[in-house]
Amino acid sequence: MGLLFTPLELRGLRLKNRLAMSPMCQYSATEGGEVTDWHLLHYPTRALGGVGLVIVEATAVLPEGRISPFDLGIWSEDHLPGLRELARRIREAGAVPGIQLAHAGRKAGTARPWEGGRPLGWKVVGPSPIPFAEGYPVPEALDEAGMARVLEAFVEGAKRALRAGFLVVELHMAHGYLLSSFLSPLANRREDAYGGSRENRMRFPLEVARAVREAIPPELPLFVRVSATDWAEGGWGLEDTLAFAERLKALGVDLLDLSSGGVVPGVRVPVAPGFQVPFADAVRKRVGMPTGAVGLLTTPEQAETVLQAGSADLVLLGRVLLRDPYFPLKAAKALGAEAPVPPQYQRAF
Ligand SMILES: Cc1cc2nc3c(=O)[nH]c(=O)nc-3n(C[C@H](O)[C@H](O)[C@H](O)COP(=O)(O)O)c2cc1C
Repeated sequence: MGLLFTPLELRGLRLKNRLAMSPMCQYSATEGGEVTDWHLLHYPTRALGGVGLVIVEATAVLPEGRISPFDLGIWSEDHLPGLRELARRIREAGAVPGIQLAHAGRKAGTARPWEGGRPLGWKVVGPSPIPFAEGYPVPEALDEAGMARVLEAFVEGAKRALRAGFLVVELHMAHGYLLSSFLSPLANRREDAYGGSRENRMRFPLEVARAVREAIPPELPLFVRVSATDWAEGGWGLEDTLAFAERLKALGVDLLDLSSGGVVPGVRVPVAPGFQVPFADAVRKRVGMPTGAVGLLTTPEQAETVLQAGSADLVLLGRVLLRDPYFPLKAAKALGAEAPVPPQYQRAF
């Protein structure tokens, strides 16, 4: 029996199928971090295309935590009306609305990719005063008050997301952004209780996850995205991810979304179809935790195989959905599953 178009239940939430839109920055918010017409068209269109869950792009919990000046924000009540409208439209279009909460840390404050992507000279923060790469600013190492402020911002962001109508919160702990950079020994050289041993490096991300979990009602799930490996000598790796997953699971995180890289520049990533699936597989089988697989999953058969192999519970789609919002409807047809086609489109599929 096919699995891709069967529901997934996490706590009290039911996704109609196992396809999710992976969070993807659109760099199209106002410079105050507000939702624009772009978001109101872009996301609901993917919801109409049949995914069970739409995870809205990395949305900054603090203004200095934006990757670019045009990232979505969730640090202020001013963001609420736009986010509420966005969540409502995603839901109306048939998908569960989710949102990724983020702080870009030492990688914050860059130009949009199509404007060169270079650092804009913002004051940035991180675990240690080590810049991401040449030309990037030296981050100010967060002290305990700074960390408390960030933790509070994640909690407030999660509460605001729920008030806006989002039903899934994902914490961004991947790609070298703030929480990810605490995990990696290549970015975190602290000598206090938040650096050194793996236990210490995990401490702040775990504190954030615990506080956010406590702010979310028990019937709604919490996702975390991690970089399963830095792809770098002396960096964070799969064994570390397994240990981290055990801890996240114990504190009530419901699904681990396994990406990789982004922590240090210049690494060689063995990019190939499904290249990150083994990470989801390892966490699911060795930790017994629901997982999301992501990365170059571009055909219906491939997505179905990931589920059949027991490697993941959810398949996240990125660029394929930018190219084709209707990929899920076509996938259902290709797999002979009952397609979630809106009645208005039925004669087209
Ligand atoms: C334009 C673009 C923006 C992205 N923004 C985010 C983001 O906000 N948060 C995140 O965790 N990953 C982000 N990613 C990574 C995607 O979520 C996804 O993991 C990656 O594209 C691999 O999946 P794919 O091969 O299906 O595209 C982005 C990717 C793209 C192409």
